[in-house]
Amino acid sequence: MSLVTLREILRDTRQKKYAVPAFNFNGYEDAQGMINSALKMRSPIILMASMGAVKYIGLKQTAGMIRGMAEMVDIPVCLHLDHGTDMALLKEAVVAGFTSVMIDASKENFEKNIETTRKVVDYAGKFGCSVEAELGKIGGREEHIVADSAESALTDPAIVPEFVEKTNVDALAVAVGTAHGFYKSTPKLDFGRLEDIVGLTGCPLVLHGGTGVPEEDFKKCIRIGMSKINVGTEFKAAYAGAIRDAVGNYKKDELDPRTYLKHVKEICEKIADKKIKLFGADGKA
Ligand code: G3H
Ligand code: ZN
Repeated sequence: MSLVTLREILRDTRQKKYAVPAFNFNGYEDAQGMINSALKMRSPIILMASMGAVKYIGLKQTAGMIRGMAEMVDIPVCLHLDHGTDMALLKEAVVAGFTSVMIDASKENFEKNIETTRKVVDYAGKFGCSVEAELGKIGGREEHIVADSAESALTDPAIVPEFVEKTNVDALAVAVGTAHGFYKSTPKLDFGRLEDIVGLTGCPLVLHGGTGVPEEDFKKCIRIGMSKINVGTEFKAAYAGAIRDAVGNYKKDELDPRTYLKHVKEICEKIADKKIKLFGADGKA
């Protein structure tokens, strides 16, 4: 199938009470493992490239690779630029064929966040590309995005309707107690805040910082109305771990790199299987 937009892939999530899995990838093996899992589970899937991943793989190469993977399967696949902070790169991603971009202007004040987000929505709209924005500040570290606990701020439900109306975003990342990276202690999610936000807007909501969130908390978020759940660090650690094991198992007479790299694909597929099931996305493609 051709790549689908974020708006399209999230369309019936709230009504049918599931969340579309959104996974960060860094190369061919992890991305293919994630798609293999989604195909097997009959799940829609959002593949997310960070600005760092795009710079490493190449922007057109990223778009071409994922477009090719999507064309080989009959499930909805969305290609998303995650945490975009560089306007030039955001525009290039839209032109290159990404079907969704995230503008992360969460460090700006409310008015400036609206203004910046609106600019991206207007631009992306001309290409039929969806946009996710962030309101509030999600804590932790995700590559160049860093917000320590003092800086992080939960989303104020009262300002959500105005933000959504003025920006016309397709999805909104909200800060309800999760953080990027591994948690030092179990996160405490503010479900009441999430309920308030869901009650105030029909805009699909996004949970960032999915690595390490307890299973029951995911389920509760989805019951309340979360539409997209991002998981990055868990895949990144598994990818790096598989490489470390491969180096440890290196044999002089086995020179085919695929012998080693296929383990990355397998481990990412396994992690994706679990998340898809947990998010209730299996059978939704
Ligand atoms: O935008 C990416 C996600 O929020 C991933 O968060 O690396 O903590 O799983 P995570
Ligand atoms: Zn994130």
